[in-house]
Amino acid sequence: MPRREKVEESNGAEPELHDEEDAISGNSSLEEKLTELPGVGSATAAKLVEHGYKTYESIAVANATELAGITGLPQTLSQKIINSARAELKFTIKTAYELEQEMKDIKRITTGSKNLDKLLGGGVETKSATEFFGEYGAGKTQIAFQLSVNAQLPVEKGGLEGTSFYVDTEGTFVPARVRGIAEASSLDPEKALQNVFWIRALNSDHQIAILEGAKDFIQEHNVKLVVIDSVTSFFRSEYPGRENLAPRQQKLNIHLHSLIRLAEIYNLAVVVTNQVMATPDMFYGDPTRAVGGNVLGHAPNNRIYLRKSKGQKRIARLVDSSYLEPGEAVFEITGQGIRDPPE
Ligand code: GTP
Ligand code: MG
Repeated sequence: MPRREKVEESNGAEPELHDEEDAISGNSSLEEKLTELPGVGSATAAKLVEHGYKTYESIAVANATELAGITGLPQTLSQKIINSARAELKFTIKTAYELEQEMKDIKRITTGSKNLDKLLGGGVETKSATEFFGEYGAGKTQIAFQLSVNAQLPVEKGGLEGTSFYVDTEGTFVPARVRGIAEASSLDPEKALQNVFWIRALNSDHQIAILEGAKDFIQEHNVKLVVIDSVTSFFRSEYPGRENLAPRQQKLNIHLHSLIRLAEIYNLAVVVTNQVMATPDMFYGDPTRAVGGNVLGHAPNNRIYLRKSKGQKRIARLVDSSYLEPGEAVFEITGQGIRDPPE
């Protein structure tokens, strides 16, 4: 039986343990499916599956050098295989009308604050990456917690009825706070915590590897939100100084683009955080000038600069968006989570 059907049947529950025979027949049916791609024979299919390339999606986002290394095929043929996987998934030339239809699939997760949702065109959207950047204590992690819970909400309440995948690079994940946010959202807190998958990344290579290896997991567990808090911290510490700037940016850029592809393929929201230092002229000048504010360049589709205001109030400014109106929104970090300030 094809693995996919099995996953749909299990309906987001914990993956079942298969006995060995089952696992083998599962693999062989995956291989069979891959051999439907022109250029993929059974030996190549076996190598691909062995290295974790089990789906058309995973091949579509691979690069030719990587595949050539694994399969021993020439690079040109590897590229053809990648192209045909992309064609199968309809990553091809399309009309603007078709594109418009596809954009109707974009869904949004509420942030908990109507003001902030409005700034974002209704919430954090799927099929793209959203960056929250700002200084320490600006509320980046709190927003990430809130979204991890909200992704689980029913659609009519601003959720996507999915799970969240949280990559923690700084060790600042607080389950008790997530529980509190879930309780305040009238979700069963135990279930809500079960639906947030957390992993601590050890360094930038591990961070990249986690995301590269998460494709099957994402599909099997109906993941609708991927958080990386923070996406930049390892890159900053591992590539210090001007002399490392170019390799750091290159690596980060590839990472971000593969995150965006992940968002597009699985119709999920990617949220990344990025700590920056406030500059003294921040309140008068352009907030993108905050130190480190341009580290991610134009890769994320939407970028929101957060700054502290009075007490628990925070101001969010949409800095970079290809289609949303620039503007600001005020929200609050409360005991219940992210909310609008009282009128
Ligand atoms: P860095 O990770 O240091 O860059 O900061 P950050 O932008 O991730 O800040 P974070 O999201 O951790 O926000 C910290 C703020 O949230 C602080 O002002 C805390 O007071 C507030 N906060 C955290 N937990 C709670 C809570 O349980 N209740 C309330 N009311 N506020 C909280
Ligand atoms: Mg944080």
